[in-house]
Amino acid sequence: TGHVTYDPGFVNTAACASAITYIDGDAGILRYRGYPIDQLAGKASFLETSYLLIYGELPTAEQLAEFSGRIRLHTLLHEEMKQFFDGFPRDAHPMAVLSSAVSALSTFYQDSLDPFDPEHVEMSTVRLMAKVPTIASYAYKKSIGQPLLYPNNALGYVENFLRMTFGVPATEYEVDPVVAQVLDMLFVLHADHEQNCSTSTVRLVGSSNANLFASVSAGVNALFGPLHGGANQAVLEMLQAIQAEGGDVKSFVRRVKDKEPGVKLMGFGHRVYKNYDPRAAIVKQAAQDVLNRMAKPDPLLDIAMQLEEIALADDYFVSRKLYPNVDFYTGLIYKAMGFPTKMFTVLFALGRLPGWIAQWREMITDPTTKIGRPRQLYVGPTERAYVPMDQR
Ligand code: CMC
Repeated sequence: TGHVTYDPGFVNTAACASAITYIDGDAGILRYRGYPIDQLAGKASFLETSYLLIYGELPTAEQLAEFSGRIRLHTLLHEEMKQFFDGFPRDAHPMAVLSSAVSALSTFYQDSLDPFDPEHVEMSTVRLMAKVPTIASYAYKKSIGQPLLYPNNALGYVENFLRMTFGVPATEYEVDPVVAQVLDMLFVLHADHEQNCSTSTVRLVGSSNANLFASVSAGVNALFGPLHGGANQAVLEMLQAIQAEGGDVKSFVRRVKDKEPGVKLMGFGHRVYKNYDPRAAIVKQAAQDVLNRMAKPDPLLDIAMQLEEIALADDYFVSRKLYPNVDFYTGLIYKAMGFPTKMFTVLFALGRLPGWIAQWREMITDPTTKIGRPRQLYVGPTERAYVPMDQR
């Protein structure tokens, strides 16, 4: 109490000390546990990266096999949990289904909810890593009216998710190895990003000693918004809208600069990066590679590249240090892989999951953690007397 600092949006406030992810926004640097993102992307697998984030060190081959093996044991969803998917309307947004289902996990696994019991935390960690891809694919299957597939644990983490999403029963499904490899790399790029909106949410909810499922479910909801993870969906919708209006990129940029209400260049700008988002550079290359493999290139890639080129040369964007962020090109890749637009932010959630878990675990074991409880500047009326109803 006493002196209160006013910092809307926490622009200058560090809410915790963390040893997980380092960002230098001016230099465009991102490191997980000290390892530069461009060294991890394409070399470390998603599960390897998850292990690094959660346990602090790169795993040995043995440690990774053990970690993957434990996750593999828990990919099934409880049979009763499937009824959840029937209860939602067919056109439900899969992010809403995902957050509900993650929250519901805490009703099935009441044996592992104590945040201060390391074994419970370990169980919840493994269950989340294992079941979130199953939930994500079921949310999609329900939306298109197809039957749910059981996980095939002979497959790798990402391959299994792809098969449950795009496969159908009694039919061989060949996972395209290039698709699996690129998706795995995109998950690595999304795996953590220090104290962003959803991660801060996970920590804030967890700071009340709420369990890991409850905290991650809240993180999914925070990620849903278009200024955060929802931006990847919003970017694709923006590109499609520009295309539908004849592909006039310049006039769209003019509307952005005129600050027309609700018109922003989605996939541009970042609270911390005042330079090219290092993830976006990797994604842009992957987008070009994936889209060039397709028989018919997606004209939206051309619109995106024009937008970027115009924006990077325009004083409005240059003076505000607005560069493409991770969401600018990912949607084009997801679209090329066959994911519907509504699933894009779910893919972001799959990638961010180990980061949320690692940050929650760091928070819960940090002796300096206190319940998150911001202060305010009160700007309402001063004291006034109650007016009886008949005198108002
Ligand atoms: N298009 C047009 N103008 C923008 C944009 C944009 N995308 N982003 C920021 N600005 C302008 C903003 O209007 C402001 O201008 P002025 O100084 O004239 O008022 C200036 O740039 C500073 O922006 P801000 O809103 O104060 O910046 P912030 O740090 O509060 O917001 C942001 C960061 C990411 C929410 C914002 O840049 C944005 O809305 N971008 C579009 C949505 C998006 O792509 N989000 C994904 C972020 S990266 C991954 C993730 O978190 O999911």
